[in-house]
Amino acid sequence: MKKVSIIGSGTMGNGIAHCFAQKGFNVSIFDISKENLIKAESNISKNLDRMIKKEKISELEKKNILSRISFLNELEKNIEDSDLVVEAATERKDVKFNIFQKLDKLCKPETILATNTSSISITEIGSKTQREEKVIGMHFMNPVPIMKLVEVIKGKKTSDETFETIMDLSKLLDKKPVFVNDAPGFVANRILMPMINEAILTLEQNVSGVEEIDTVMILGMSHPMGPLFLADFIGLDVCLSILNVMHEGFQDDKYAACNLLKQMVNNNELGVKTGKGFYIYSEGLKNKKVSPNFLK
Ligand SMILES: NC(=O)c1ccc[n+]([C@@H]2O[C@H](COP(=O)([O-])OP(=O)(O)OC[C@H]3O[C@@H](n4cnc5c(N)ncnc54)[C@H](O)[C@@H]3O)[C@@H](O)[C@H]2O)c1
Repeated sequence: MKKVSIIGSGTMGNGIAHCFAQKGFNVSIFDISKENLIKAESNISKNLDRMIKKEKISELEKKNILSRISFLNELEKNIEDSDLVVEAATERKDVKFNIFQKLDKLCKPETILATNTSSISITEIGSKTQREEKVIGMHFMNPVPIMKLVEVIKGKKTSDETFETIMDLSKLLDKKPVFVNDAPGFVANRILMPMINEAILTLEQNVSGVEEIDTVMILGMSHPMGPLFLADFIGLDVCLSILNVMHEGFQDDKYAACNLLKQMVNNNELGVKTGKGFYIYSEGLKNKKVSPNFLK
């Protein structure tokens, strides 16, 4: 495998591109938003600078990694000869189904089509193509260059060959791949999202404040970050979409998103990516402050 294409240059797409390019792959990253492509290039550059500071890579390596990534706006161009495509676009069924229909038409028959979806059925995404045996879930964690886990999800028709290729490739990226069956939210989000939703409900019902809820989970449960900060980090729109997919998929109200989460998404308070969620990020991640909305 030489050429990898990534669809979507948001939180996850730029991290995935970074990891592949660091391992020597030629990477094309596609997005419908030119603004997000510019942000992605700057994010990758900043993340590589952090690695230089920690003496993990040299200035020359940074230059080489960046030179292996192309930032592109039109899917029709440069995609057909990809050996692997990893889709990391917005977590909406209509968006992903549409992208997979297009990819199936544009890519050579051997291309493996992977999706970084957090919750949507791999079998359903695969059914939008004529190559169901080559469609697979490759679910990276955020931030991708740091987090070791990749959930590898087999759809009903994913072949063993495709599965083994993606398991091996994940190891080559220095990740730990874990096999997971196809079910809404897979394993990671099926466990994580109800916890995040409950933390938001605890805030909504005024049981405690933002920092207090996060502190309880950090100090009381040894979580590395509190659930409200984690929700901001993931993106509140992404959390809402995942809960909606699980609510619909399991037909169980225990996955119903709470009102406060829906309101914040409506107000475009999406967390780190819009600068405001449960916290505000005008002075960077480290100097985050509780959003004025939640100050007593
Ligand atoms: N945020 C997380 O912590 C996280 C973790 C694991 C997996 N995921 C999954 O990764 C995927 C991407 O999430 P994200 O957080 O990076 O979202 P994001 O909102 O940060 O970025 C999504 C990007 O996709 C682009 N996009 C939308 N439609 C497109 C299209 N048709 N073609 C090309 N680009 C398109 C948008 O312009 C945007 O730049 C989702 O499926 C999400 O569930 C997210």
